[in-house]
Amino acid sequence: MLFLQAAEARHAIAQTFAVINYSPTPLAQRAIAKGVMRDLQARRLRPNVPVPSRWNPLKFVRLMRTETGSLSAAVAALLYDGAWTSSGGSFRLAEQLGVSIPELCETALRQRGQLRYLEIGAGWAGMRSPLSNGMIPRDAGGLAQRYKQELGETVHLHLTNLTPWHEHLPDGVTEHSHVTAAGLTALESQGVARRSVDFIYSQAAAYFETDHVSFVCAACRLLAPGGAMIFNHRPAIAEEIDAIMADHGVRCAGRVDLGGMNGSVAHFQRPAEKAARKTLAAYDPAFRRAAAR
Ligand SMILES: C[S@@+](CC[C@H](N)C(=O)[O-])C[C@H]1O[C@@H](n2cnc3c(N)ncnc32)[C@H](O)[C@@H]1O
Repeated sequence: MLFLQAAEARHAIAQTFAVINYSPTPLAQRAIAKGVMRDLQARRLRPNVPVPSRWNPLKFVRLMRTETGSLSAAVAALLYDGAWTSSGGSFRLAEQLGVSIPELCETALRQRGQLRYLEIGAGWAGMRSPLSNGMIPRDAGGLAQRYKQELGETVHLHLTNLTPWHEHLPDGVTEHSHVTAAGLTALESQGVARRSVDFIYSQAAAYFETDHVSFVCAACRLLAPGGAMIFNHRPAIAEEIDAIMADHGVRCAGRVDLGGMNGSVAHFQRPAEKAARKTLAAYDPAFRRAAAR
């Protein structure tokens, strides 16, 4: 069953790539296949379950049995499935960088009259059980609650995943499944215009992208003037990422090395477009006539 679902997901991802004329390398294909299997496992767990290490087999099997409802599935997970993780989706990495995503969202909404938020590799993204700190959202699910009235009108949330995670989402929240970070350009044919996204976030997801060049270029195409992006990446590619961003007019506003599997978390900004400066000629017809002569 799991293998059939994995084959279907890989096929659907290949179709997304075909739409944008993208050919992944054999290395990328292997990473995607691994990511798909991880997705299918993690999706079977409730959000934010603290999965014990397989070095503690009794605890592991007990938890897996509770989560999957089957002892044979729990034993198979112990013997064959590799490390299991539970996805929640949260703003934890941005918080570690000292950036408040809720504040960035409020500012975008106030200044531009609309907010388009994109989370890459969102998993559950808190849509099942939103996290909040009092009234302050701590995940995309929290944003959906905060902007309940505006969703689908002035606020749009987009979540990408390698496989479909969500069956029901409110209007204004769209899951783009079978989309990888390198294949983000596919969103342009799924209702997300170029230079329209105010905030792009990815926690423990774009990190796994092997083609970071395509990812960064595609993300820059989607990012709106005045928009921001936060994601974690392998520390070794920091300089290259900064150089590609700079080519697109996007600059690094901060980075922190968290070490281990979190790598480095970086914050990027695209400057807002300056209001078109009107020259004297635009106001004075005599001046305009003289300039035309
Ligand atoms: C470990 S989960 C993290 C989920 C969530 N962001 C969180 O913090 O709990 C990995 C997520 O990354 C996605 N993913 C894996 N490889 C990816 C890639 N190459 N590009 C984009 N997303 C990817 C998976 O679909 C999944 O949603």
